[in-house]
Amino acid sequence: MSDKELRVSKIKDGTVIDHISGGYALDVVKILGITGKENRVMTIAVNVPSKRFGVKDIVKIEGRALNSQEVNRIALVAPHASINIVHDYHVVEKLEVKLPKVIEGIVKCVNPACISNSDEPVVAKFYVKAEEPLLLKCHYCGITLDRADVLQQL
Ligand code: CTP
Ligand code: ZN
Repeated sequence: MSDKELRVSKIKDGTVIDHISGGYALDVVKILGITGKENRVMTIAVNVPSKRFGVKDIVKIEGRALNSQEVNRIALVAPHASINIVHDYHVVEKLEVKLPKVIEGIVKCVNPACISNSDEPVVAKFYVKAEEPLLLKCHYCGITLDRADVLQQL
């Protein structure tokens, strides 16, 4: 790397979400519920050149690990992301993002008439019909949602 190139620093402890498709880092941050007001150091790199992907995004969150539910959420918006847990500057664990077959309580149905959008105590539930491109089918009304529908409600 030459002096002219901008370089994102390594972190001491925390989580690096790497290989996010170019332009999707902010969606990843959003689906994790991170607002930037958490008093934590975070680095977001968007559209950086990548040998494997052309361009990619990276999110580095210092001092925080992700739980498995958060890893699954990331799969909704960044199915190719790799998650690296860093301790004392070393990558100690690599987690694979994996979309569960059934998604409950994260995504809302787009059909206003769906029972999951009524006053009934019904938690929205979707079956993952395809991962790439994303296709979710509502358990209750059968309507399908794509990635744009999911991104729109983040
Ligand atoms: N990383 C970091 N801080 C560290 C160690 C690693 O920010 N102390 C970042 C690296 O910059 C990279 C990611 O974590 O973006 C994964 O690190 P590493 O496994 O060392 O890189 P690769 O071998 O290139 O990983 P992969 O095979 O997943 O591309
Ligand atoms: Zn529905």
